[in-house]
Amino acid sequence: MQIKIDDKIFEPYLLQSKVEARVAEIAQQIKTDYKDRQPVFLGVLSGSFFFMADLVKQTSLDAEISFVKLASYEGERSSGKMEVQLSIHTNLKNRDVIIVEDIVDTGHTLKYLLDLIRKEKPASVRVCSLLYKPAACQIQFEELQYIGFEIPNEFVLGYGLDYNAKGRNLRDIYRLAAI
Ligand code: IMP
Repeated sequence: MQIKIDDKIFEPYLLQSKVEARVAEIAQQIKTDYKDRQPVFLGVLSGSFFFMADLVKQTSLDAEISFVKLASYEGERSSGKMEVQLSIHTNLKNRDVIIVEDIVDTGHTLKYLLDLIRKEKPASVRVCSLLYKPAACQIQFEELQYIGFEIPNEFVLGYGLDYNAKGRNLRDIYRLAAI
Protein backbone atom coordinates (compact mmCIF):
# COMPACT_ATOMS: atom_id res chain seq x y z
CA MET A 1 0.00 0.00 0.00
CA GLN A 2 1.29 3.44 -0.88
CA ILE A 3 1.86 6.03 1.84
CA LYS A 4 2.11 9.81 1.71
CA ILE A 5 4.73 11.68 3.71
CA ASP A 6 4.62 15.45 3.34
CA ASP A 7 4.64 16.07 -0.42
CA LYS A 8 5.85 12.61 -1.49
CA ILE A 9 4.21 9.28 -2.23
CA PHE A 10 6.13 6.14 -1.32
CA GLU A 11 5.52 2.50 -2.26
CA PRO A 12 6.63 -0.72 -0.52
CA TYR A 13 10.03 -1.88 -1.70
CA LEU A 14 11.85 -4.24 0.69
CA LEU A 15 9.42 -5.94 3.03
CA GLN A 16 10.17 -6.59 6.67
CA SER A 17 10.51 -10.35 6.17
CA LYS A 18 13.09 -9.88 3.43
CA VAL A 19 15.08 -7.37 5.47
CA GLU A 20 14.97 -9.62 8.54
CA ALA A 21 16.22 -12.59 6.57
CA ARG A 22 19.11 -10.60 5.13
CA VAL A 23 20.04 -9.12 8.52
CA ALA A 24 20.17 -12.66 9.94
CA GLU A 25 22.53 -13.72 7.14
CA ILE A 26 24.88 -10.80 7.71
CA ALA A 27 24.85 -11.40 11.47
CA GLN A 28 25.92 -15.01 10.87
CA GLN A 29 28.71 -13.86 8.60
CA ILE A 30 29.99 -11.35 11.16
CA LYS A 31 29.70 -13.95 13.91
CA THR A 32 31.96 -16.27 11.91
CA ASP A 33 34.42 -13.57 10.86
CA TYR A 34 34.81 -12.16 14.39
CA LYS A 35 34.75 -15.43 16.33
CA ASP A 36 36.70 -15.08 19.60
CA ARG A 37 37.11 -11.33 19.07
CA GLN A 38 35.45 -8.46 20.85
CA PRO A 39 34.55 -5.93 18.16
CA VAL A 40 33.11 -2.50 18.73
CA PHE A 41 29.93 -1.96 16.74
CA LEU A 42 29.74 1.74 15.96
CA GLY A 43 26.23 2.69 14.85
CA VAL A 44 25.76 5.85 12.83
CA LEU A 45 22.70 7.66 14.17
CA SER A 46 19.94 8.07 13.57
CA GLY A 47 19.25 5.88 10.56
CA SER A 48 21.03 2.73 11.74
CA PHE A 49 19.22 2.26 15.04
CA PHE A 50 16.88 -0.59 13.99
CA PHE A 51 19.52 -2.30 11.90
CA MET A 52 22.13 -1.99 14.62
CA ALA A 53 19.84 -3.51 17.26
CA ASP A 54 18.68 -6.40 15.08
CA LEU A 55 22.16 -7.13 13.79
CA VAL A 56 24.10 -6.97 17.03
CA LYS A 57 21.58 -9.12 18.92
CA GLN A 58 21.98 -11.87 16.38
CA THR A 59 25.78 -11.93 16.23
CA SER A 60 25.88 -13.10 19.89
CA LEU A 61 29.44 -11.80 20.10
CA ASP A 62 31.06 -10.40 23.23
CA ALA A 63 30.86 -7.00 21.59
CA GLU A 64 30.81 -3.38 22.64
CA ILE A 65 28.18 -0.98 21.32
CA SER A 66 28.80 2.65 20.57
CA PHE A 67 27.18 5.39 18.52
CA VAL A 68 28.19 8.45 16.58
CA LYS A 69 25.94 11.08 15.05
CA LEU A 70 26.96 13.15 12.08
CA ALA A 71 25.12 16.03 10.42
CA SER A 72 21.69 14.85 9.39
CA TYR A 73 20.49 14.41 5.85
CA GLU A 74 17.98 17.09 4.90
CA GLY A 75 15.16 16.07 2.58
CA GLU A 76 16.32 14.02 -0.37
CA ARG A 77 19.80 15.45 -0.79
CA SER A 78 22.82 15.47 1.45
CA SER A 79 23.33 18.92 2.89
CA GLY A 80 27.05 18.52 2.19
CA LYS A 81 27.74 19.75 5.71
CA MET A 82 29.69 17.28 7.78
CA GLU A 83 29.82 17.84 11.47
CA VAL A 84 29.92 15.56 14.48
CA GLN A 85 26.75 16.00 16.52
CA LEU A 86 27.46 13.17 18.97
CA SER A 87 31.07 12.15 19.30
CA ILE A 88 32.50 8.68 19.85
CA HIS A 89 32.84 7.93 23.56
CA THR A 90 34.58 4.56 23.21
CA ASN A 91 38.35 4.22 23.04
CA LEU A 92 38.91 2.65 19.62
CA LYS A 93 42.68 2.25 19.88
CA ASN A 94 43.67 -1.32 18.91
CA ARG A 95 40.02 -2.35 18.65
CA ASP A 96 38.25 -4.12 15.80
CA VAL A 97 35.65 -1.58 14.72
CA ILE A 98 32.54 -2.41 12.70
CA ILE A 99 30.77 0.72 11.48
CA VAL A 100 27.04 0.09 11.10
CA GLU A 101 25.37 2.36 8.54
CA ASP A 102 21.82 2.51 7.26
CA ILE A 103 22.82 3.49 3.75
CA VAL A 104 25.84 4.54 1.73
CA ASP A 105 24.71 6.98 -0.92
CA THR A 106 27.37 9.42 -2.24
CA GLY A 107 29.84 8.02 0.30
CA HIS A 108 30.80 11.43 1.73
CA THR A 109 29.52 10.64 5.20
CA LEU A 110 31.36 7.35 5.33
CA LYS A 111 34.59 8.91 4.06
CA TYR A 112 34.38 11.57 6.77
CA LEU A 113 33.72 8.97 9.44
CA LEU A 114 36.51 6.64 8.30
CA ASP A 115 38.98 9.52 8.40
CA LEU A 116 37.86 10.31 11.96
CA ILE A 117 38.16 6.72 13.10
CA ARG A 118 41.56 6.08 11.54
CA LYS A 119 42.96 8.86 13.74
CA GLU A 120 42.03 6.71 16.76
CA LYS A 121 44.38 3.94 15.54
CA PRO A 122 41.98 0.97 15.64
CA ALA A 123 43.31 -2.55 14.94
CA SER A 124 40.86 -2.91 12.04
CA VAL A 125 37.83 -1.18 10.54
CA ARG A 126 35.07 -2.69 8.47
CA VAL A 127 31.77 -1.24 7.39
CA CYS A 128 28.39 -2.94 7.44
CA SER A 129 25.69 -1.05 5.57
CA LEU A 130 22.12 -2.22 5.19
CA LEU A 131 21.77 -0.43 1.84
CA TYR A 132 24.25 0.69 -0.78
CA LYS A 133 23.62 2.79 -3.89
CA PRO A 134 26.56 1.89 -6.15
CA ALA A 135 25.44 4.25 -8.92
CA ALA A 136 25.44 7.22 -6.54
CA CYS A 137 28.60 6.40 -4.62
CA GLN A 138 31.58 8.54 -5.61
CA ILE A 139 34.20 6.74 -3.51
CA GLN A 140 35.38 3.10 -3.48
CA PHE A 141 35.60 1.69 0.02
CA GLU A 142 37.56 -1.47 0.62
CA GLU A 143 36.21 -1.40 4.20
CA LEU A 144 32.64 -1.88 2.94
CA GLN A 145 32.59 -5.63 3.54
CA TYR A 146 28.98 -6.27 4.53
CA ILE A 147 26.10 -5.00 2.41
CA GLY A 148 22.45 -5.87 2.93
CA PHE A 149 21.08 -4.78 -0.42
CA GLU A 150 22.51 -2.92 -3.38
CA ILE A 151 19.77 -0.62 -4.60
CA PRO A 152 19.35 1.77 -7.54
CA ASN A 153 19.77 5.50 -7.08
CA GLU A 154 16.30 5.99 -5.61
CA PHE A 155 15.17 7.63 -2.39
CA VAL A 156 14.06 5.14 0.27
CA LEU A 157 12.70 5.32 3.80
CA GLY A 158 11.57 3.12 6.69
CA TYR A 159 13.41 0.69 9.00
CA GLY A 160 15.35 3.65 10.40
CA LEU A 161 15.61 5.79 7.28
CA ASP A 162 13.68 9.04 7.14
CA TYR A 163 12.26 11.66 4.87
CA ASN A 164 12.10 15.07 6.58
CA ALA A 165 12.59 13.26 9.89
CA LYS A 166 9.51 11.10 9.26
CA GLY A 167 9.02 7.45 8.45
CA ARG A 168 11.86 6.00 10.51
CA ASN A 169 9.57 3.65 12.42
CA LEU A 170 8.03 1.98 9.37
CA ARG A 171 8.72 -1.76 9.46
CA ASP A 172 9.15 -2.12 5.71
CA ILE A 173 11.44 -0.12 3.44
CA TYR A 174 9.62 2.11 0.94
CA ARG A 175 10.81 3.95 -2.14
CA LEU A 176 9.54 7.02 -3.92
CA ALA A 177 6.62 5.94 -6.08
CA ALA A 178 6.83 6.41 -9.83
CA ILE A 179 4.36 9.12 -10.80
P1 IMP B 1 26.01 9.97 1.81
O1 IMP B 1 26.96 10.85 2.57
O2 IMP B 1 25.53 10.64 0.55
O3 IMP B 1 26.54 8.58 1.55
O4 IMP B 1 24.71 9.84 2.67
C1 IMP B 1 24.67 9.13 3.82
C2 IMP B 1 23.48 9.50 4.65
O5 IMP B 1 22.45 10.16 3.88
C3 IMP B 1 22.83 8.24 5.18
O6 IMP B 1 23.39 7.82 6.38
C4 IMP B 1 21.38 8.65 5.29
O7 IMP B 1 21.15 9.25 6.54
C5 IMP B 1 21.17 9.67 4.20
N1 IMP B 1 20.55 9.08 2.99
C6 IMP B 1 21.15 8.82 1.80
N2 IMP B 1 20.29 8.28 0.93
C7 IMP B 1 19.11 8.19 1.59
C8 IMP B 1 17.81 7.68 1.21
O8 IMP B 1 17.55 7.18 0.09
N3 IMP B 1 16.85 7.76 2.16
C9 IMP B 1 17.06 8.29 3.39
N4 IMP B 1 18.26 8.75 3.79
C10 IMP B 1 19.28 8.70 2.88
